Amino acid sequence: MRHPVMNGSGLLGSSRQQVSIMCSWGLAAIVTKTITRYPRVMNKPPNILYLSDLGAVINSMGLPNPGATHIYELVQEARGCGVPVIVSVGGRSLEEYLEVSSIAEEAGASAVELNLSCPTTSGYGLNSLTDLQTMYEVVRGVSSTVRLPVIAKLGIDFRNGLIQMVGKALEGGARAVTLINSVKVVSIDPEKLSYSLSSSNMGYSGAPILYIGLRAVHDAYKEYKAEIIGCGGIRYWSDIASYILAGARAVQLVTSLMTARNPREHVSNLLKELENWLERKGFSTLEEAVGFIHKR
Ligand SMILES: Cc1cc2nc3c(=O)[nH]c(=O)nc-3n(C[C@H](O)[C@H](O)[C@H](O)COP(=O)(O)O)c2cc1C
Repeated sequence: MRHPVMNGSGLLGSSRQQVSIMCSWGLAAIVTKTITRYPRVMNKPPNILYLSDLGAVINSMGLPNPGATHIYELVQEARGCGVPVIVSVGGRSLEEYLEVSSIAEEAGASAVELNLSCPTTSGYGLNSLTDLQTMYEVVRGVSSTVRLPVIAKLGIDFRNGLIQMVGKALEGGARAVTLINSVKVVSIDPEKLSYSLSSSNMGYSGAPILYIGLRAVHDAYKEYKAEIIGCGGIRYWSDIASYILAGARAVQLVTSLMTARNPREHVSNLLKELENWLERKGFSTLEEAVGFIHKR
Protein backbone atom coordinates (compact mmCIF):
# COMPACT_ATOMS: atom_id res chain seq x y z
CA MET A 1 0.00 0.00 0.00
CA ARG A 2 1.16 3.52 -0.75
CA HIS A 3 0.34 4.72 2.75
CA PRO A 4 -1.39 3.32 5.86
CA VAL A 5 -4.91 4.79 5.58
CA MET A 6 -7.90 2.87 4.23
CA ASN A 7 -11.62 2.94 4.86
CA GLY A 8 -13.16 0.48 7.28
CA SER A 9 -15.92 -1.86 6.20
CA GLY A 10 -19.38 -0.40 6.36
CA LEU A 11 -18.70 2.77 4.54
CA LEU A 12 -20.02 3.00 1.00
CA GLY A 13 -18.66 -0.36 -0.06
CA SER A 14 -21.73 -2.15 -1.29
CA SER A 15 -22.22 -0.86 -4.83
CA ARG A 16 -20.03 -0.07 -7.81
CA GLN A 17 -20.97 3.59 -7.57
CA GLN A 18 -20.07 3.77 -3.88
CA VAL A 19 -16.70 2.12 -4.49
CA SER A 20 -16.02 4.63 -7.22
CA ILE A 21 -16.74 7.51 -4.81
CA MET A 22 -14.28 6.05 -2.29
CA CYS A 23 -11.69 5.65 -5.03
CA SER A 24 -11.56 9.42 -5.35
CA TRP A 25 -10.58 9.88 -1.69
CA GLY A 26 -6.95 8.80 -2.06
CA LEU A 27 -7.19 5.78 0.25
CA ALA A 28 -4.39 3.21 0.16
CA ALA A 29 -6.82 0.29 -0.13
CA ILE A 30 -10.56 -0.13 -0.44
CA VAL A 31 -12.49 -2.35 1.96
CA THR A 32 -15.97 -3.43 0.88
CA LYS A 33 -19.07 -3.50 3.03
CA THR A 34 -19.39 -6.90 4.72
CA ILE A 35 -20.84 -9.24 2.11
CA THR A 36 -22.88 -12.32 2.97
CA ARG A 37 -23.88 -15.21 0.67
CA TYR A 38 -27.37 -13.82 0.04
CA PRO A 39 -28.55 -10.19 -0.02
CA ARG A 40 -29.66 -8.64 3.26
CA VAL A 41 -31.91 -5.64 3.72
CA MET A 42 -31.29 -2.85 6.19
CA ASN A 43 -33.09 -2.97 9.54
CA LYS A 44 -36.08 -0.69 9.54
CA PRO A 45 -35.55 2.91 10.72
CA PRO A 46 -34.51 4.35 13.05
CA ASN A 47 -31.24 2.46 12.57
CA ILE A 48 -28.61 5.13 13.17
CA LEU A 49 -28.03 7.82 15.80
CA TYR A 50 -25.55 10.63 15.11
CA LEU A 51 -24.15 11.87 18.43
CA SER A 52 -22.39 14.88 16.96
CA ASP A 53 -21.29 16.38 20.28
CA LEU A 54 -19.44 13.13 21.01
CA GLY A 55 -18.14 12.59 17.46
CA ALA A 56 -19.85 9.23 17.63
CA VAL A 57 -22.45 7.10 15.93
CA ILE A 58 -24.64 4.28 17.20
CA ASN A 59 -25.92 2.06 14.40
CA SER A 60 -28.10 -0.97 14.03
CA MET A 61 -27.99 -1.27 10.25
CA GLY A 62 -27.95 -5.06 10.36
CA LEU A 63 -25.38 -5.77 7.61
CA PRO A 64 -27.37 -4.67 4.56
CA ASN A 65 -25.53 -5.86 1.43
CA PRO A 66 -26.25 -7.04 -2.09
CA GLY A 67 -24.98 -10.61 -1.57
CA ALA A 68 -21.94 -12.47 -2.88
CA THR A 69 -22.81 -12.40 -6.58
CA HIS A 70 -22.07 -8.65 -6.51
CA ILE A 71 -18.50 -9.13 -5.30
CA TYR A 72 -17.24 -9.31 -8.91
CA GLU A 73 -18.39 -5.81 -9.76
CA LEU A 74 -17.17 -4.31 -6.46
CA VAL A 75 -13.72 -5.82 -6.90
CA GLN A 76 -13.56 -4.82 -10.55
CA GLU A 77 -14.43 -1.21 -9.71
CA ALA A 78 -11.91 -1.00 -6.87
CA ARG A 79 -9.16 -2.58 -8.96
CA GLY A 80 -9.87 0.04 -11.58
CA CYS A 81 -8.62 2.71 -9.20
CA GLY A 82 -5.31 0.90 -8.80
CA VAL A 83 -5.38 0.04 -5.10
CA PRO A 84 -5.66 -3.30 -3.29
CA VAL A 85 -9.21 -4.35 -2.53
CA ILE A 86 -10.15 -6.18 0.63
CA VAL A 87 -13.48 -7.97 0.63
CA SER A 88 -15.14 -8.02 4.03
CA VAL A 89 -16.83 -11.38 4.50
CA GLY A 90 -19.74 -12.16 6.81
CA GLY A 91 -21.34 -15.47 7.61
CA ARG A 92 -23.42 -17.51 9.97
CA SER A 93 -21.44 -20.69 9.43
CA LEU A 94 -18.05 -21.91 8.26
CA GLU A 95 -19.68 -22.89 4.95
CA GLU A 96 -20.93 -19.35 4.35
CA TYR A 97 -17.55 -17.77 5.19
CA LEU A 98 -15.88 -20.28 2.87
CA GLU A 99 -18.27 -19.74 0.03
CA VAL A 100 -18.10 -15.92 0.13
CA SER A 101 -14.29 -15.95 0.57
CA SER A 102 -13.88 -18.27 -2.42
CA ILE A 103 -15.99 -15.93 -4.55
CA ALA A 104 -13.82 -13.00 -3.39
CA GLU A 105 -10.72 -14.91 -4.44
CA GLU A 106 -12.20 -15.79 -7.83
CA ALA A 107 -13.20 -12.15 -8.32
CA GLY A 108 -9.58 -11.01 -7.87
CA ALA A 109 -9.64 -9.51 -4.36
CA SER A 110 -6.28 -8.82 -2.70
CA ALA A 111 -7.37 -10.16 0.70
CA VAL A 112 -10.43 -11.11 2.69
CA GLU A 113 -11.29 -9.60 6.03
CA LEU A 114 -13.48 -11.96 8.03
CA ASN A 115 -16.03 -9.97 9.99
CA LEU A 116 -16.05 -12.17 13.09
CA SER A 117 -17.43 -9.56 15.37
CA CYS A 118 -20.50 -7.80 14.00
CA PRO A 119 -22.45 -6.43 16.97
CA THR A 120 -25.42 -5.16 14.95
CA THR A 121 -26.74 -8.37 13.50
CA SER A 122 -28.09 -11.30 15.37
CA GLY A 123 -26.56 -14.59 14.27
CA TYR A 124 -23.46 -12.97 12.77
CA GLY A 125 -20.08 -12.58 14.37
CA LEU A 126 -20.17 -11.51 17.96
CA ASN A 127 -23.58 -13.00 18.56
CA SER A 128 -22.83 -16.42 17.19
CA LEU A 129 -19.06 -16.74 17.32
CA THR A 130 -18.71 -16.13 21.02
CA ASP A 131 -17.37 -19.61 21.17
CA LEU A 132 -13.62 -19.31 20.67
CA GLN A 133 -13.43 -22.71 19.07
CA THR A 134 -16.02 -21.82 16.40
CA MET A 135 -14.17 -18.60 15.59
CA TYR A 136 -10.92 -20.56 15.36
CA GLU A 137 -12.48 -23.11 13.02
CA VAL A 138 -13.81 -20.40 10.72
CA VAL A 139 -10.40 -18.72 10.48
CA ARG A 140 -8.61 -22.02 10.02
CA GLY A 141 -11.16 -23.25 7.48
CA VAL A 142 -10.90 -20.13 5.31
CA SER A 143 -7.12 -19.76 5.70
CA SER A 144 -6.53 -23.31 4.58
CA THR A 145 -8.93 -23.06 1.64
CA VAL A 146 -8.26 -19.73 -0.04
CA ARG A 147 -4.82 -18.57 -1.11
CA LEU A 148 -5.58 -14.94 -0.29
CA PRO A 149 -4.26 -13.39 2.92
CA VAL A 150 -6.93 -13.71 5.59
CA ILE A 151 -7.49 -10.85 8.01
CA ALA A 152 -9.60 -11.52 11.12
CA LYS A 153 -11.65 -8.55 12.28
CA LEU A 154 -12.39 -8.76 15.96
CA GLY A 155 -14.10 -6.59 18.51
CA ILE A 156 -14.58 -6.15 22.20
CA ASP A 157 -16.44 -9.16 23.46
CA PHE A 158 -17.80 -9.10 26.98
CA ARG A 159 -17.70 -12.87 27.21
CA ASN A 160 -14.35 -13.78 25.65
CA GLY A 161 -11.20 -11.80 26.16
CA LEU A 162 -10.26 -10.01 22.96
CA ILE A 163 -6.58 -10.77 23.32
CA GLN A 164 -7.32 -14.46 23.69
CA MET A 165 -9.44 -14.28 20.52
CA VAL A 166 -6.57 -12.60 18.65
CA GLY A 167 -4.30 -15.49 19.69
CA LYS A 168 -6.81 -18.05 18.44
CA ALA A 169 -7.30 -16.20 15.14
CA LEU A 170 -3.53 -16.13 14.54
CA GLU A 171 -3.27 -19.79 15.47
CA GLY A 172 -6.02 -20.47 12.92
CA GLY A 173 -3.89 -18.95 10.17
CA ALA A 174 -4.93 -15.28 10.05
CA ARG A 175 -2.16 -13.21 8.45
CA ALA A 176 -3.36 -10.09 10.23
CA VAL A 177 -6.07 -8.83 12.57
CA THR A 178 -8.20 -5.73 12.35
CA LEU A 179 -8.93 -4.28 15.80
CA ILE A 180 -11.64 -3.21 16.59
CA ASN A 181 -15.16 -3.47 15.28
CA SER A 182 -17.82 -1.15 16.70
CA VAL A 183 -18.50 -1.82 20.36
CA LYS A 184 -21.75 -3.56 21.21
CA VAL A 185 -23.90 -1.17 23.21
CA VAL A 186 -27.51 -0.41 23.95
CA SER A 187 -29.24 2.97 23.82
CA ILE A 188 -32.57 3.37 25.57
CA ASP A 189 -35.12 6.15 25.15
CA PRO A 190 -36.60 6.90 28.60
CA GLU A 191 -39.48 8.92 27.12
CA LYS A 192 -40.62 6.23 24.73
CA LEU A 193 -39.75 3.47 27.22
CA SER A 194 -38.12 1.61 24.35
CA TYR A 195 -34.80 1.10 22.60
CA SER A 196 -33.63 4.19 20.72
CA LEU A 197 -33.25 2.21 17.49
CA SER A 198 -35.46 -0.40 15.88
CA SER A 199 -33.14 -3.23 16.93
CA SER A 200 -31.44 -3.75 20.27
CA ASN A 201 -28.24 -4.92 18.50
CA MET A 202 -26.28 -1.70 18.34
CA GLY A 203 -22.68 -0.80 17.54
CA TYR A 204 -20.92 2.25 18.97
CA SER A 205 -18.23 3.91 16.85
CA GLY A 206 -16.28 7.14 16.56
CA ALA A 207 -14.17 9.22 18.95
CA PRO A 208 -15.29 7.60 22.25
CA ILE A 209 -13.88 4.21 21.24
CA LEU A 210 -10.41 5.51 20.32
CA TYR A 211 -8.73 4.49 23.56
CA ILE A 212 -10.48 1.13 23.61
CA GLY A 213 -9.16 0.39 20.12
CA LEU A 214 -5.71 1.59 21.11
CA ARG A 215 -5.66 -0.69 24.14
CA ALA A 216 -6.66 -3.65 21.98
CA VAL A 217 -3.91 -2.95 19.44
CA HIS A 218 -1.35 -2.24 22.16
CA ASP A 219 -2.03 -5.47 24.02
CA ALA A 220 -2.33 -7.64 20.90
CA TYR A 221 0.99 -6.32 19.56
CA LYS A 222 2.69 -6.77 22.89
CA GLU A 223 1.47 -10.34 23.22
CA TYR A 224 1.88 -11.62 19.66
CA LYS A 225 3.80 -9.02 17.58
CA ALA A 226 0.89 -9.52 15.20
CA GLU A 227 0.29 -7.68 11.94
CA ILE A 228 -2.46 -5.31 12.98
CA ILE A 229 -4.81 -2.91 11.24
CA GLY A 230 -5.96 -0.40 13.84
CA CYS A 231 -9.54 0.83 13.73
CA GLY A 232 -11.77 2.77 16.07
CA GLY A 233 -12.25 6.43 16.80
CA ILE A 234 -9.67 7.88 14.42
CA ARG A 235 -10.26 11.57 13.67
CA TYR A 236 -6.83 13.21 13.76
CA TRP A 237 -3.31 12.44 12.51
CA SER A 238 -2.30 12.02 16.14
CA ASP A 239 -4.81 9.19 16.53
CA ILE A 240 -3.18 7.38 13.61
CA ALA A 241 0.28 8.05 15.06
CA SER A 242 -0.86 6.57 18.38
CA TYR A 243 -2.19 3.44 16.67
CA ILE A 244 1.12 3.03 14.84
CA LEU A 245 3.17 3.46 18.01
CA ALA A 246 0.90 0.92 19.73
CA GLY A 247 1.62 -1.62 16.98
CA ALA A 248 -0.66 -1.04 13.98
CA ARG A 249 0.83 -1.12 10.47
CA ALA A 250 -2.22 0.42 8.86
CA VAL A 251 -5.49 1.97 9.96
CA GLN A 252 -9.11 2.09 8.92
CA LEU A 253 -11.50 5.01 9.25
CA VAL A 254 -15.28 4.85 9.24
CA THR A 255 -17.14 7.36 11.40
CA SER A 256 -14.79 10.28 10.73
CA LEU A 257 -15.08 9.67 6.96
CA MET A 258 -18.88 9.41 7.25
CA THR A 259 -19.08 12.75 9.01
CA ALA A 260 -16.29 14.62 7.17
CA ARG A 261 -17.46 17.54 5.05
CA ASN A 262 -14.84 16.65 2.47
CA PRO A 263 -13.52 13.09 2.89
CA ARG A 264 -10.82 13.54 0.24
CA GLU A 265 -9.43 16.58 2.02
CA HIS A 266 -9.72 14.79 5.36
CA VAL A 267 -7.57 11.89 4.13
CA SER A 268 -5.05 14.15 2.46
CA ASN A 269 -4.66 16.34 5.57
CA LEU A 270 -4.20 13.27 7.78
CA LEU A 271 -1.47 11.96 5.49
CA LYS A 272 0.37 15.28 5.30
CA GLU A 273 0.38 15.66 9.08
CA LEU A 274 1.39 12.05 9.60
CA GLU A 275 4.31 12.46 7.22
CA ASN A 276 5.29 15.58 9.10
CA TRP A 277 5.21 13.78 12.43
CA LEU A 278 7.34 10.88 11.16
CA GLU A 279 9.93 13.36 9.97
CA ARG A 280 9.83 15.45 13.16
CA LYS A 281 10.35 12.34 15.27
CA GLY A 282 13.21 11.07 13.14
CA PHE A 283 11.55 7.95 11.78
CA SER A 284 12.85 7.35 8.26
CA THR A 285 10.06 4.87 7.52
CA LEU A 286 6.65 4.19 9.00
CA GLU A 287 7.85 0.67 9.73
CA GLU A 288 10.32 2.07 12.29
CA ALA A 289 7.46 3.62 14.24
CA VAL A 290 5.30 0.48 14.34
CA GLY A 291 5.12 -0.74 17.94
CA PHE A 292 7.72 1.83 19.04
CA ILE A 293 6.00 2.33 22.38
CA HIS A 294 6.97 -1.22 23.35
CA LYS A 295 10.65 -0.60 22.65
CA ARG A 296 10.99 2.21 25.13
C1 LIG B 1 -22.77 2.63 9.84
C2 LIG B 1 -21.70 1.62 10.12
C3 LIG B 1 -21.72 0.41 9.44
C4 LIG B 1 -20.73 -0.56 9.68
N1 LIG B 1 -20.74 -1.72 8.99
C5 LIG B 1 -19.73 -2.63 9.15
C6 LIG B 1 -19.66 -3.78 8.34
O1 LIG B 1 -20.47 -4.02 7.44
N2 LIG B 1 -18.64 -4.65 8.58
C7 LIG B 1 -17.67 -4.43 9.53
O2 LIG B 1 -16.76 -5.26 9.68
N3 LIG B 1 -17.72 -3.31 10.30
C8 LIG B 1 -18.72 -2.43 10.11
N4 LIG B 1 -18.73 -1.27 10.88
C9 LIG B 1 -17.69 -1.07 11.90
C10 LIG B 1 -16.52 -0.27 11.33
O3 LIG B 1 -15.86 -0.92 10.26
C11 LIG B 1 -15.48 0.05 12.42
O4 LIG B 1 -14.93 -1.15 12.91
C12 LIG B 1 -16.06 0.85 13.59
O5 LIG B 1 -17.01 1.77 13.11
C13 LIG B 1 -14.98 1.59 14.37
O6 LIG B 1 -14.32 2.53 13.57
P1 LIG B 1 -14.67 4.13 13.61
O7 LIG B 1 -14.66 4.53 15.03
O8 LIG B 1 -13.63 4.76 12.73
O9 LIG B 1 -16.05 4.26 13.01
C14 LIG B 1 -19.71 -0.29 10.65
C15 LIG B 1 -19.70 0.93 11.33
C16 LIG B 1 -20.67 1.88 11.07
C17 LIG B 1 -20.62 3.18 11.81
